Amino acid sequence: VETALADGPLKGKHVIVTSGPTHEPIDPVRYIANRSSGAQGTALARAISAQGAEVTFVTGPADVSPPTGVKVVRVKTAKQMLDAVQDALPADAAVFAAAVADWHVANASDSKMKKTKGGMPDLEFAENPDILATVSQMTKGRPELVVGFAAETDDVIAHATAKRDRKGCDWIVANDVSPETGIMGGDENAVTVISDAGADSWPRMDKDTVARQLAAKIAEALT
Ligand code: CTP
Ligand code: CA
Repeated sequence: VETALADGPLKGKHVIVTSGPTHEPIDPVRYIANRSSGAQGTALARAISAQGAEVTFVTGPADVSPPTGVKVVRVKTAKQMLDAVQDALPADAAVFAAAVADWHVANASDSKMKKTKGGMPDLEFAENPDILATVSQMTKGRPELVVGFAAETDDVIAHATAKRDRKGCDWIVANDVSPETGIMGGDENAVTVISDAGADSWPRMDKDTVARQLAAKIAEALT
């Protein structure tokens, strides 16, 4: 168990961490979501706070409780998450561990949708704002270090490297979420950190250990 150290290496630094899934409404009782538990983002926020940083933790509706000792901002949708991140700026670093929904329902209904004889709802989708890309590409007041995550299958490193280039973040933390790895929803993670220095693959370990090592690497980069 960690407690926030007032005098860790990240003392005086502000770090924004996003975490969890987002929920995109269909109608007042239904939404579109994903399987993110929020475990890795929560562990990371806790570990960064333990290094002495002031942490703003912007979280979607996650399964796990947020850490103590951080400023918690609860959101539901991707749009709300972007607004909360922008409100939390400026920051020295921003770490985007959330599993943000790629689309929202453009024709969400204010009234509960009812079954009609033989008819299926006609949902229209529109793309959500890309929070990581938006912050990475800020021309004024960009955090010194912007870190994204990439949960991929198949050619994980190639997909993640392309994603880093496309979005313009400093690091991408990539992992293989193929069902046979058991990583999605599990306690362990095996990540590759992609930066200007190349692709650094870490052994499979506890999500808490991954979080502590990433927090240490962030502290090293900011000091
Ligand atoms: N991300 C974000 N806002 C979005 C989508 C993704 O901030 N609307 C962030 C995630 O938090 C993560 C990174 O971008 O840090 C990569 O997310 P991912 O879903 O892998 O990227 P996408 O660009 O959505 O690509 P894909 O088509 O593979 O889902
Ligand atoms: Ca996505």
